[in-house]
Amino acid sequence: MIGARGELSAIFNPSGLVEADLKSGTRDCELKIDEAGQSVAARLDLHYMGRALELAARGRGQASPNPLVGCVIVDESGRVIGEGFHVYAQVKHAETIALEQAGARAHGATCYVSLEPCAHYGRTPPCTDALIRAGIRRLVAPIEDPNPLVAGRGFAQLRAAGVEVSVGLMAREAERLNEHYLHFMRTGRPFVHLKLACSLDGRIATAKGDAHWITGERARMRVHELRHECDAILIGAGTAIADDPLLTDRSGLPRHRPLVRVVLDGRLRLRKDSRLAQTARELPTLVFTSEEADQERAAELEACGIEVVRSGGGLSAVLGELARRKVQSVLVEGGSNIASRFIKDRLVDRITFFIAPLIIGADGIVAIGELGIEKLTEAIRLREVEVERHGDDVEITGYPIWTD
Ligand SMILES: NC(=O)c1ccc[n+]([C@@H]2O[C@H](COP(=O)([O-])OP(=O)(O)OC[C@H]3O[C@@H](n4cnc5c(N)ncnc54)[C@H](OP(=O)(O)O)[C@@H]3O)[C@@H](O)[C@H]2O)c1
Repeated sequence: MIGARGELSAIFNPSGLVEADLKSGTRDCELKIDEAGQSVAARLDLHYMGRALELAARGRGQASPNPLVGCVIVDESGRVIGEGFHVYAQVKHAETIALEQAGARAHGATCYVSLEPCAHYGRTPPCTDALIRAGIRRLVAPIEDPNPLVAGRGFAQLRAAGVEVSVGLMAREAERLNEHYLHFMRTGRPFVHLKLACSLDGRIATAKGDAHWITGERARMRVHELRHECDAILIGAGTAIADDPLLTDRSGLPRHRPLVRVVLDGRLRLRKDSRLAQTARELPTLVFTSEEADQERAAELEACGIEVVRSGGGLSAVLGELARRKVQSVLVEGGSNIASRFIKDRLVDRITFFIAPLIIGADGIVAIGELGIEKLTEAIRLREVEVERHGDDVEITGYPIWTD
């Protein structure tokens, strides 16, 4: 949830550091030690890296398929002389935007950037060249960019040119911020975020399939933020039929690429008068089905603007096809069968449950079907768990630990 609603500034503002220290610059402050035993220079690094991450987060929904990158340039007296973040449509990288603001003052300055600068020609020339040309003395970055075109080359080029490069500060936060991009670059597969809303007794709908609405309005608004962060949203045919959803990003925030709507529908049960089919001309909609699915049904859906993809090979093949289309992240919104399948196949990278204070009973639809787990030690546990309240509902999110 980093930076989504300004948490970073709250967490990483260097509390205890007086305003004068911040303005007086690193040189004079280097020997000062604050009450926590941390040098003021180290706290300034933390502050400006937090700021770079905060700026990067402003590109959410607008940077993909590029990473979220924020940059802050600080002169020798500790003054911020340039700031920038990347959005895909504006082409320029965060470093270039910040360097342009800094101009000649960048000579001898420190650059804080939330990801390793690029070292290759893409839509723009290498940022490393621009940083070296501008005379940047020191670069602070949390992590390497795993993109094979970068992968350490950015840092190496800067070091070879005499720039002091420091890597690792706030690495965990930087990993979280760009988890979709980093996962896609490392595995070639989209990051899968499974999200479900359930009752206190773990039911996602009544026995008759009624799921409107388990959670309150504030939790549902939060879901639109999650949709906004992703490139695609995926559901099963059961949900498409029961809920007739629209599956749009109604966060109200700008996005560069439209959210791709995906339905897994082996028998092409999706109706041509469904809201998904009726809006498929305006919003990209993919239906994955089996080789055997009816030709006529496929033609009917295609006539509505839906792209019907016949794929064997289960969920891996679906994710492979989405990756081929540069979809870096997928929000899986159920239902029960689809969620269980993703979990059984260990294809889930993050799990979010919204738990609402109501009881549906054992005849309701379970959130996750049978997994054949016999001992609690075999249960799927989450790490880096976060809990947040939205009205009367509670959001619990974390990363599944897949053990052998
Ligand atoms: N509260 C919530 O968060 C929430 C979220 C979503 C849904 N729901 C509720 O959940 C209910 C629907 O759940 P559900 O379990 O019946 O349906 P589902 O999981 O949405 O869809 C299951 C169907 O998807 C198709 N499918 C295609 N590929 C599949 C694969 N690899 N693995 C599994 N299924 C695949 C299968 O139909 P074919 O054999 O025809 O392909 C299967 O029957 C609805 O009542 C809905 O309101 C609640």
